[in-house]
Amino acid sequence: MYRITLTVNGKRHTVEVEDRTLLVELLREGLGLTGAHIGCDTAQCGACTVLLNGRAAKSCSVLAVQADGARVTTVEGLARGKRLHPVQAALKAEHGLQCGFCTPGLVLGLVDFLGEHPDPTPAQVRTALDGHLCRCTGYQHIVDAALTAARALREAGAGDAPEPALRELG
Ligand code: FES
Ligand code: FES
Repeated sequence: MYRITLTVNGKRHTVEVEDRTLLVELLREGLGLTGAHIGCDTAQCGACTVLLNGRAAKSCSVLAVQADGARVTTVEGLARGKRLHPVQAALKAEHGLQCGFCTPGLVLGLVDFLGEHPDPTPAQVRTALDGHLCRCTGYQHIVDAALTAARALREAGAGDAPEPALRELG
């Protein structure tokens, strides 16, 4: 067993993990943060995406020990009270989700993407969605939501934030 310390959604945790424990397993089973979903376990579906030190990462492909000392944001850490993060709000407004299985990973992937591309084209959004599989929506509503969220973030000034962590605050 290895003792690691990481900060998840602003809260510091020291936990013991096996060398084979995946970050997504630690989040879900160790910390009770079930927003990171396991859809494939082979780095294909994107449902397990979280922010690792501010950048999107598929948590089924990261060992928990690799996250020692890291800052992790899961979908549970995005909203501020009842105020949804602009990406969450846009997905809701544009009907960018149905069953919601892909949605938490998608949200965090888009938070990272929009931080890097504050004024994306639809084509850039579609490229960014590569690696996020959605069986329900047909993707058009997700693209619409990404563009709406980009607009909202620009208006809020968050799109210009140089520090990735600020993107997480919306
Ligand atoms: Fe990680 Fe599918 S569960 S990419
Ligand atoms: Fe069902 Fe995307 S909303 S998988």
